[in-house]
Amino acid sequence: LENGLARRPPMGWLSWAQFGCATDCKKSPNKCISDKLIRRTTDAMVSQGYLKAGYEYVIVDDCWFAKNRDKNGRLQPDPERFPHGMKDLANYIHDKQMKFGIYEDIGTHTCAGYPGLQGHFQEDAKTFAEWEIDYIKVDGCYMNPDQAMINKYVEFGDYLNKTGRSITYSCSWPAYMPVEQADYSLLPKTCNLWRNAWDIGDSWSSISGILKWFARRQDIIAQFAGPGHWNDPDMLIIGNNKLTPGQSKAQMSLWAILAAPLLMSADLDLVSSSDRDILQNRDVIAINQDELGIQGLLVKKASKHTDVWTRKLTPIVDNFHSYAIAFLNKENNGADKVTVTLSDVGLTSTKKYFVCEVFKNQKKPHLININAKFTVKVNSEDVRLYKAIPATPKMLNCKKHL
Ligand code: DGJ
Repeated sequence: LENGLARRPPMGWLSWAQFGCATDCKKSPNKCISDKLIRRTTDAMVSQGYLKAGYEYVIVDDCWFAKNRDKNGRLQPDPERFPHGMKDLANYIHDKQMKFGIYEDIGTHTCAGYPGLQGHFQEDAKTFAEWEIDYIKVDGCYMNPDQAMINKYVEFGDYLNKTGRSITYSCSWPAYMPVEQADYSLLPKTCNLWRNAWDIGDSWSSISGILKWFARRQDIIAQFAGPGHWNDPDMLIIGNNKLTPGQSKAQMSLWAILAAPLLMSADLDLVSSSDRDILQNRDVIAINQDELGIQGLLVKKASKHTDVWTRKLTPIVDNFHSYAIAFLNKENNGADKVTVTLSDVGLTSTKKYFVCEVFKNQKKPHLININAKFTVKVNSEDVRLYKAIPATPKMLNCKKHL
């Protein structure tokens, strides 16, 4: 959507994957969807370096609502869990230089049964603008997944636009219908990002399932990603103690290759320092945020277990792109050694590349000819991520290179 927003994939935090619809604050005071959770997450974003690393949105997913609208038909938050109201919470987040996101649903109800937007588009868009919301995720429960649903998303987007406030618009209709029906050409005109597929779960098999979904449909969907409009493979689950370090690096790397929104969903007060380092790795974030915004692709199955993904990046040197290259061993069968040439994985336009590895403290780039054998050992359910830049006479060190 050309509203000046999301020129790079949005980065932030979203409550759902980790906190779901926990509404019993007596039973779980630290885990329920509440003003307290959002404020302490905002604080942690600042104090633990996430904001500095580029994460700026704090987004509350489903279940922030009171069961019913107020007597004037306006949306209202649950009065016990959000006692100061949403405007006050937005002020708190804005004071810390961050942005506030919220959740609604295009149908009659949200997936968890709270009041939906249906029949209230104009007044609800106005309410969100008054609350100074910066981002809205609009889900697709309680409505038939057909063309009429798509039209409703377009219509609500118009009302958001008419408020005059800059609000990043996350749509969900593609997640509710087959790719062929979802009218992808309408997405970049209507939304800043959109969920494509099913919900991520807290496991490696869920991550690899989503990657498989994206790889299978990449020829259709990747072309619609770019500055202002992104495919969204769902939240990062790094930091929830359900992934190994290798799996965490793999999710981060592949989400960077896919130009995916980086929306963490973890209890930021409980994330280990090694997971925090992965989430804040500046080199992988730079790949994700590359200004060209070209979504990467699976380019080669290097072995039964290991796939090679690449993404075109800046700098462009003499008309040749730089690339991110990820070797992903999806399986749990031990380390896999694969050999490819850079030309095998699509880097055919120049003779040599300087190659540096992300997540390593490499100093000097390797100078690699496109037809030379390049052998990589990838551990089970792990990744090796590289950045390749067309070689010039002047050699950079990897610190500057990445
Ligand atoms: C379905 C969405 O895909 C999830 O991300 C989450 O927003 C839930 N609905 C909330 O009910």
